[in-house]
Amino acid sequence: MNKISQLISLLGGTGVVAEKLKIKPSAISNWKKLNKIPTSKHNFIIELCSNLEIEIEKFLPIKKQYNFKIKILLIICGGIASYKSLEIIRLIKKTDIELDVVLTKSAQKFITPLLVTSLNEKKCYTDLFSVEDETKMNHIKLARKPDIILVAPATANIMGKFANGLADDLASTILLASSSKIIFAPSMNPVMWNNLATRENYKKLSERGIQFIEPDTGDMACGENGTGRFPEPKLIIETVLSYLNRNKRLANQFKDVSILITAGPTIEEIDPIRFISNKSSGKQGFELATELTKRGAKVTLITGPVNIPFPNCKNLIQVKSAQEMLDNINHHLPTDILICSAAVADWKLIPKTSSNKKINTNNKIKKTKDNLLFETQKNPDILETVAKSSLRPKLVIGFSAETNNIKKYAYSKLVSKNIDLIIANDVSNNKVFGEDFNKVFVIDKNNCKEWKRQSKKSVAFHLANKISDLLINYNRSDLNA
Ligand SMILES: Cc1cc2nc3c(=O)[nH]c(=O)nc-3n(C[C@H](O)[C@H](O)[C@H](O)COP(=O)(O)O)c2cc1C
Repeated sequence: MNKISQLISLLGGTGVVAEKLKIKPSAISNWKKLNKIPTSKHNFIIELCSNLEIEIEKFLPIKKQYNFKIKILLIICGGIASYKSLEIIRLIKKTDIELDVVLTKSAQKFITPLLVTSLNEKKCYTDLFSVEDETKMNHIKLARKPDIILVAPATANIMGKFANGLADDLASTILLASSSKIIFAPSMNPVMWNNLATRENYKKLSERGIQFIEPDTGDMACGENGTGRFPEPKLIIETVLSYLNRNKRLANQFKDVSILITAGPTIEEIDPIRFISNKSSGKQGFELATELTKRGAKVTLITGPVNIPFPNCKNLIQVKSAQEMLDNINHHLPTDILICSAAVADWKLIPKTSSNKKINTNNKIKKTKDNLLFETQKNPDILETVAKSSLRPKLVIGFSAETNNIKKYAYSKLVSKNIDLIIANDVSNNKVFGEDFNKVFVIDKNNCKEWKRQSKKSVAFHLANKISDLLINYNRSDLNA
């Protein structure tokens, strides 16, 4: 059976394809006989293939198509496996992915920029201090452009530099200046790979969300045997493509879903220049806003005062106090999902004199010889107010920062406030607040799961998956109701 006959059969057979393309079955039979499909029909066939997840490029002489333009930056470091990256370039060139390549100085001892340029049909970048490159495609543009930076082969040296924030050449500077997904495919002598320094760098980078394609075990070019061999270029490409496919799949996961997220601390003013607040940085909420926006949600982020860059989301509202936060939430109801990650001040402080007299707080409170006293006044409980309101979103999700009895307190909040999911963390000894890492318990009515310590970005990624599952369950039960 020739390729076109196989393809037609995978698409459902001559009759089905003829019907879908609104042409005569005899035309399809002709294609099978000639083992050729007219170019004018390629787009229809590509569409049918993509609906059935058939890899069209196996049957037609066309480049693998993605519905959105993908850009990869390949950084080739200097090692015995540098030449194998030429195969990676060749494989990427078979797709419609846009590829840029950077060679380190050491890599140029193994392969030349000319070789890379001719394979990639494009300039290959080598120099951080190139006047010509800096004017056309400077290192910051190179760092910001790609969806993925693939470092292959990654040397022990580049791992060490990146783990420790060094930027002394084009490759390491790009890595530091980028917020793209970064994948390392290391290759090195087994003793180098097992060296404690490399192990520590590997751990640091993994914890920061860098993905590793593990080296193979076996005979090495240097004559030794062990772990450190460059993974097969085909496997590296498959890992990259599966990441891209996953992203493509997730891009519409929350399409048309409105999500309200609160983040950061609130502040409660005592007088025009003094306030109480807490140590929340807003990082976890901002990561969630970024992740859910990436997945197609219409995110409105309501944030207290923070010192970190704002994420890209549909709406961003800045507030100060708990009451302002609640007012803005109410203003944006109804919404499909509410995620309260803000650390809302539980009380306002009302200053009093020792003779219990209220003080005018419109002006700065003046120092006197008497001590100043404070009465606490409870702030509204945002989670509970919204979760018990008539405009309750489909899902209400809360965060719980505790210093002791973490799971117990979080679970009782979940029940008493009538919410669907609570993310609890241990904030004793200055853990979590302001950090880039988080260790959380994820608690719903049936389960309490302890997640391993991971970056807040990674927590956001996994929480988005969990929220998607909860939403699917909600919609299913709603249909059955
Ligand atoms: C012949 C030869 C082979 C090498 N192979 C490797 C290797 O496979 N992996 C590695 O990490 N370093 C290897 N090195 C050492 C690196 O080239 C060296 O650490 C260099 O500084 C790496 O620079 P880069 O990370 O900027 O490319 C090799 C060196 C030589 C001379």
